[in-house]
Amino acid sequence: MTKQQTYSAPGRVCLYGEHQDYLKLTVVPAAINLKTKITVEKNNTREIRVNSVELGKNHSFKITKNLSLAKNEFDYIRAVLMVLFQENIIEEISGFNLNITSQIPFGSGLSSSAAILVAWLTALNDQLNLRLNKTEIADLCFIAENKILGINCGIMDQYSSSLGGIFSLDCDGPPYKIQQFTTELNGLVIGDSCIRRSANEPLTLLKSQITTGIEKIKQQGNFELRTLASNTLTEFRDFITEDEYRKLLGVITIRNITKRSITELSKNEEQDFEYLGSLLTKQQTMLRDYLGVSIPELDNLIDVSLKAGALGAKLTGAGLGGCIIALAPGKEEEVASAINSAGGKAIICKIDFDGAKKED
Ligand code: GLA
Repeated sequence: MTKQQTYSAPGRVCLYGEHQDYLKLTVVPAAINLKTKITVEKNNTREIRVNSVELGKNHSFKITKNLSLAKNEFDYIRAVLMVLFQENIIEEISGFNLNITSQIPFGSGLSSSAAILVAWLTALNDQLNLRLNKTEIADLCFIAENKILGINCGIMDQYSSSLGGIFSLDCDGPPYKIQQFTTELNGLVIGDSCIRRSANEPLTLLKSQITTGIEKIKQQGNFELRTLASNTLTEFRDFITEDEYRKLLGVITIRNITKRSITELSKNEEQDFEYLGSLLTKQQTMLRDYLGVSIPELDNLIDVSLKAGALGAKLTGAGLGGCIIALAPGKEEEVASAINSAGGKAIICKIDFDGAKKED
């Protein structure tokens, strides 16, 4: 009898810096106590045999060096092995039986896909004694999601799920600069609109509009998205389309809001939660009015949360569906019941400080 072992990786909310990671700017994600768990057991074959409890489906495939995607929900499992082969981290491995369970709703902006990738690589890392550290695991999972699965994401989700906690991550790397924060940030309430979408759609569209816009501005002088001031952007308004202008202004404003949040979160004394909340809501205005990635259902959940006493709220993830995150210390129950009455599904959550790990 071979031994079964369970590994887990958390989902995340993005507090500050939405749509900044793939532009190499800075983000502040928070890992949350909703997890994906993978129980693995070596089998005596050369096959991976997966069972997904939530999908109610099974899938098996042979492990070979020229493994490819099957264009189904189990491609996350394949993609991790493909990266390990491509990077020459594994040569030949034995087969495994996998049982996957997840508390993270799929396609909801809570990083369910990164959690599967990271939990699986954490399992392989331990089972095959690969000696990868948590940032190496995040980097490899990013390659799996971005290069192999073809999602236009940045590195935020994989880092958050692997490392856990709340930190700022400067995505202009590698190496990436990380600053961990110690606050427990009590009072986080998720509101799921239950509208599912593929993150790739808003990501692909925004990325292309913003990069085209900034390239046109760069032709006018030595400007970078990291430092471009909104006044300077306005001066060059005639060189870009109205759409590019709005997207760039949204990104620059969110960049500045994120910087302010980091200054507050870095304080050793108690943080000003009202201020942190107001920065969430300011960011939402940009996501809604300038980046155009909110939808009325999310706006409504944000509205009712604020009315029920939240200090601030915003959508989380790529947008156009999925979840909102509200900061409501001491008002968690009120905000949760307002979200539920408005047709959403509320989850009062806590920060997960462990990140991906082997379960006891
Ligand atoms: C998705 C991506 C992330 C990030 C967000 C938007 O969740 O996976 O990398 O780009 O959208 O902030």
